[in-house]
Amino acid sequence: MLGAAFSTFAISTTAQNFNIIPKPQEVKEGNGMFEIKSGLAISSDDAFCAEYLAEKIKNAAGVDVVTGGAGSATASNNCISIKVDKSAEIPQEGYKLLVTPERVEILASTGTGAFYGVQTLMQLMPSAIYGGATGFENWKIPAVEINDYPRFSYRGLMLDVSRTFFGLETLYKFADWLAYHKVNKFHLHIVDDNGWRIEIKKYPVLTQKGAWRGPGEVLPPTFGSGNKRYGGFYTQKEMKEFIKYCKERHIEVIPEIDLPGHSKAIAACMPEILCQKDKDFESVQGEIGNVFCVGREENYKILDNIIKEIASIFESDYIHIGGDEVAMENWLHCNRCKELMEREGMTSADQIQNYFVKRMSQIVEKYGKKMAGWDEIIDGGELDKNTRVYAWKSMKRAHASVSKGYPTIIQVGEYNYVDMKQSPLERGHNWAGIVPIEKTYSLDPCAGNSQYQFTESQAALVIGSQVGLWTELLNRPARFVEYQIFPRLAASAEVGWTNQNLREWNDFHKRLTESHYDRMYNMGIAFRIPWPEVIYEDNTLKVKKPFKSAVIRYTTDGSEPTVNSATYNGDIVTDKPQEFRFATFYNQFKSITVCASNVERYKYLTPDVEIESSLEAMSQRWSIDNIKDYDSKTYFRSNRKAQAGDYVTYKFKEAVKCSMIIVETGIPNIDFYGVTDGILEYSYNGVDFIKGAEFADNVATLHPDKPIKAVRISVTAPNDAHTLCLQDIKVVE
Ligand code: ACM
Ligand code: ZN
Repeated sequence: MLGAAFSTFAISTTAQNFNIIPKPQEVKEGNGMFEIKSGLAISSDDAFCAEYLAEKIKNAAGVDVVTGGAGSATASNNCISIKVDKSAEIPQEGYKLLVTPERVEILASTGTGAFYGVQTLMQLMPSAIYGGATGFENWKIPAVEINDYPRFSYRGLMLDVSRTFFGLETLYKFADWLAYHKVNKFHLHIVDDNGWRIEIKKYPVLTQKGAWRGPGEVLPPTFGSGNKRYGGFYTQKEMKEFIKYCKERHIEVIPEIDLPGHSKAIAACMPEILCQKDKDFESVQGEIGNVFCVGREENYKILDNIIKEIASIFESDYIHIGGDEVAMENWLHCNRCKELMEREGMTSADQIQNYFVKRMSQIVEKYGKKMAGWDEIIDGGELDKNTRVYAWKSMKRAHASVSKGYPTIIQVGEYNYVDMKQSPLERGHNWAGIVPIEKTYSLDPCAGNSQYQFTESQAALVIGSQVGLWTELLNRPARFVEYQIFPRLAASAEVGWTNQNLREWNDFHKRLTESHYDRMYNMGIAFRIPWPEVIYEDNTLKVKKPFKSAVIRYTTDGSEPTVNSATYNGDIVTDKPQEFRFATFYNQFKSITVCASNVERYKYLTPDVEIESSLEAMSQRWSIDNIKDYDSKTYFRSNRKAQAGDYVTYKFKEAVKCSMIIVETGIPNIDFYGVTDGILEYSYNGVDFIKGAEFADNVATLHPDKPIKAVRISVTAPNDAHTLCLQDIKVVE
């Protein structure tokens, strides 16, 4: 319905040109157009394909469509015919699509190929085909002949539904969006430290308790879930229905149960699974009590019971057992694990991990499945060569995986982690660097990199690639999940589908911005929109649009541009450039807001400040001195969770005259581990404090009306993390 509601963008009544994503392998332009008219007949060997396409055309074009079996409408010239012929010499997921002014024909050797032929056909139609807009007559499809097939059999998306829980409604939307992009694997990271999200009938506690975090729950609040009960899970019945929906759309749902680390959710419900030791060791995420004891034999019975149910719910041939980021020191301090080491002649923690992973592969195989895991599983010993490895840390690790002979999926951080920032100005992680869409697009999964090149036989072990989204940052703002995934998923879809010699960034970018933005808009995706480049020279603000058809709006009073703000139409002469704000708009969606890149948006003051706090630093590295140096790269991290009554006072040596003070808490730009519930107070004399503002999303802002001596963060309820991070305050002149 989006298309109908917001039609400021022209939705062409004639078909678009061939800006198809992912780009087909071979396209030959024809002459003329096929016109969709009322009474259109769709005949098909694949009833689902026919109904799927008919439904879309009926809804969008508002015409009557009749469907029938193969050959049912061949005599008509108002006909789309979909043929599935097993003996046709067309690759597995490939198709041939022929459009002439008389007819449309899709030929494939499988139902999957036919479905992808339908997807391409839809991209040749007006983008309203995705949006359910009605009333567009004279729909036309350009004459064309397309021969197409995928480069890789695995083209995926990984979504972490543990740290942030996404309801079924979101999952179904994603299934549709993946299908539109010919992405055929949906890897659900369904279990992690911060929530168990699938019903296990043998252990109902896992979802009765392990799916919830908050005050009084077995799991503490975290990652912005706040001082309230937060969580959710999928019942087996719901998940089976979802898997069926995906299967119809030729998407395989691959479950990941992350083991033996990342297991706090289950350990919080069943603490007996943990090691026997007198000391806790933290995972890299700072979690304790999240590692299965490898020496406890009963644990394998529990895992057998769980995997048995997982195997019965999910139709995928694979079960992903995680294997990443295990705090292995726990094992080295556990009597049971030490006994196991001695018994098995093991000398390192890696070998214990390998022992565990092999036990898991036996369990997985017992239930007719194959095992997959993150790249750590290749360490410490051999595994069956059918084991599928997901390389994530680096291309070096992907190289290690293919060198050892494992079929490998490339989900390498620097290309494929869409929880990474897309630019320095945006929210997100950056441990794998900034990952703009160009970087995602630049991946050749078979090539390795300049340092770690794959040989031909190693490259043959690469079965595909995927982007992955970890969701500790994803609760806000609303629909940030879509912002992070799209359009990087469109780039990744083409990496997976289109032969390397046909791919080129400028060509992709043209197709993306000329047609695919409009398609994604009509699909209902809140995708990321790039912002304009603005510079100020010769008393003039000059704006470079990020793409040809971009609509730039601006304000002149420092406020956020809205859909009602003035449209930029050319150079703006001004002597107050710092007052201007710009953003790109795509109907109601907009980019981040910017001002001229060579103009300071605010003038920040750096008054001498002393800090008083009830909190102590986690270590010298995170010292309280870090938040009085006005260096945004350093910050404070407490040695414990903040509680009601904790405070941090920033005391100025001299009273400061300023228009605004912004207090952002949490890790800079990542913005978790901040103040969940608290008040920002201020003082004119350094002694008496007045309530200023409440923290929302870790931030509070003051607008003092006379010089102030101090500001104080007063925590009113525990923060939703094991630590509190604080930054320098921003004092605006
Ligand atoms: C991972 O990012 N820990 C697989
Ligand atoms: Zn143990």
